Amino acid sequence: MSGENGYLPEPKGFATAAIHAFQDPEQWESMAVVAPMVASTTFKRYGPSSFKKFEYGRSGNPNRDVLENCLATLDNAKYGLCWSSGLGATMGVASLFKAGDHIICGDDIYGGTNCLLDKVCTKLGLEISFVDETKIESAIKKNTKLIWVESLTNPTLKVINIPAIAAIARKHNVLLAVDSTFVTPYFQRPIDLGADLVVHSLTKFMNGHTDVIMGVTITNNKNLYDQLKFLQNIMGIVPAPFDCYQVTRSIKTLPLRMKQHMKNSLEVAKFLETHPKVEKVLHPGLPCHPQHELYKKLASGCSGMITFYIKNAVLEHSQRFLTSLKIVTLAHSLGGYHSLAELPSVMSHASIPEDQRKILNITDNLIRLSVGLEDVEDLISDLQQALEKV
Ligand SMILES: Cc1ncc(COP(=O)(O)O)c(C=O)c1O
Repeated sequence: MSGENGYLPEPKGFATAAIHAFQDPEQWESMAVVAPMVASTTFKRYGPSSFKKFEYGRSGNPNRDVLENCLATLDNAKYGLCWSSGLGATMGVASLFKAGDHIICGDDIYGGTNCLLDKVCTKLGLEISFVDETKIESAIKKNTKLIWVESLTNPTLKVINIPAIAAIARKHNVLLAVDSTFVTPYFQRPIDLGADLVVHSLTKFMNGHTDVIMGVTITNNKNLYDQLKFLQNIMGIVPAPFDCYQVTRSIKTLPLRMKQHMKNSLEVAKFLETHPKVEKVLHPGLPCHPQHELYKKLASGCSGMITFYIKNAVLEHSQRFLTSLKIVTLAHSLGGYHSLAELPSVMSHASIPEDQRKILNITDNLIRLSVGLEDVEDLISDLQQALEKV
């Protein structure tokens, strides 16, 4: 687990890498144990055409550099690039292609990604097909350049068989990008499973404190990295140094947080599974999840995400449930220490056309829950009292 020129000469554990990779205090003059914050937008040059490492804050910054390298190490890859949001990272990847190129995208994805590809990238001439992950091979055409999947999918938590899709991508000489926001490299590393590119919305579990919007692209492919680095700079989709500093701090506790998200979410999922007002619970860690066995082969654990359907509920019932919650907060987003709940049909996935939502079972009784780090007994009693109001 060491990136190019990394601080860790030998493979080390995940938590050790999160704390130390590319953060050797001897590399900065102050010997500060924590990478110093550098806010400067520009850097003095030796001469008009020679500079030390950084020249201008958009093309590179020391805090971004530390974070990018450390994140690449955590995904067992060489190259990371941070973007000012997860969607910024997605736009960077889409910008690798030209008008007339075809992208196949899983049909169960974050609504914003769907909207970006469908409403913006198509205007730029890209051809986009949204398909069920089991039908990807038959959707490949001569001009197909990229397969984009989310695993786990948002919001129905389907497990994507990344090695199988990677084999299809290789066979047809197509790139595979995986949005791994819901799982994080702590539990799964798509590059090891055959993906060419990994994208995380760092806004979610990776930062975990609900106070930074950021994204990252990770790859082992130098050519892709060089192209993305060019796009990151020239499109200007870059994060602020202080935000990089914050995320670098947050990932030090990622292993601890993820273990607790998993523990809490499993307990909450088991509670929901037995509740008479709950029709169905989707959590890849539960044996009742249709792809539980596949998930166990592909990932070492699960995050805090749960999707469940309230029995016989219409929009009004779901709204009553959500507004009755006292500890779990009704809000967009996921992956932080606060538990959050939302209604994808009118919130995160409202931009997906209604007929498509129906096919995907994103109905008005589907609740998406991001289980945080509160005491699990408090979360369960909060959910219990809110379900009683339905
Ligand atoms: C799976 C997934 N990918 C990407 C994004 C976009 O990330 P950001 O909000 O950081 O742009 C989100 C946002 O919710 C998401 O859930």
